[in-house]
Amino acid sequence: MNETSQDIDFTFSPNELVEAKRLIAKFPEGKQKSAVLGLLHMAQAKWGWASVPAMDYVASLLDINPIEVYEVATFYTMFHLDKTGKYVLEVCRTSPCCLLGAEETVERLEAKLGIKVGQTTPDGLFTLKEVECLAACGFGPVIQIHETYHEHMTPDNAEQLVDTLTSQALAQN
Ligand code: FES
Repeated sequence: MNETSQDIDFTFSPNELVEAKRLIAKFPEGKQKSAVLGLLHMAQAKWGWASVPAMDYVASLLDINPIEVYEVATFYTMFHLDKTGKYVLEVCRTSPCCLLGAEETVERLEAKLGIKVGQTTPDGLFTLKEVECLAACGFGPVIQIHETYHEHMTPDNAEQLVDTLTSQALAQN
């Protein structure tokens, strides 16, 4: 049976709460809501994506309206607003990477994975996203997967990367 959001406890552990309070305390009195980015990162790391209950929990920690958290989470592409696959392929689509072939890389990835940008493969392995500049413009096209940058991602290199990750995932099962 699939886990639903009702089955999930959307609260931080005591240790995570200590970290959350440390982040909040970095900001001056009255400006604590500036910790929203850090708390959203914590929430996404814990629950995999920025779901509405997770964002509502962040709002409660900051004593702000949930809409203020939604506004931030929907502005930055690093926050996932839907459940993702095991690997999130975040392809930079800003001009320098496009000049180096990012659009062709995305097209090849869509064909190889059988999904469009914004979708997740049925096996739950890959989510394909397009994002803004990843600040590695001289090494494009760039694909970020979690904390790792993959540079010079020509269509062939990107396809090879998918094959490698698929093999890794199979080996882990
Ligand atoms: Fe792609 Fe900057 S344009 S990393």
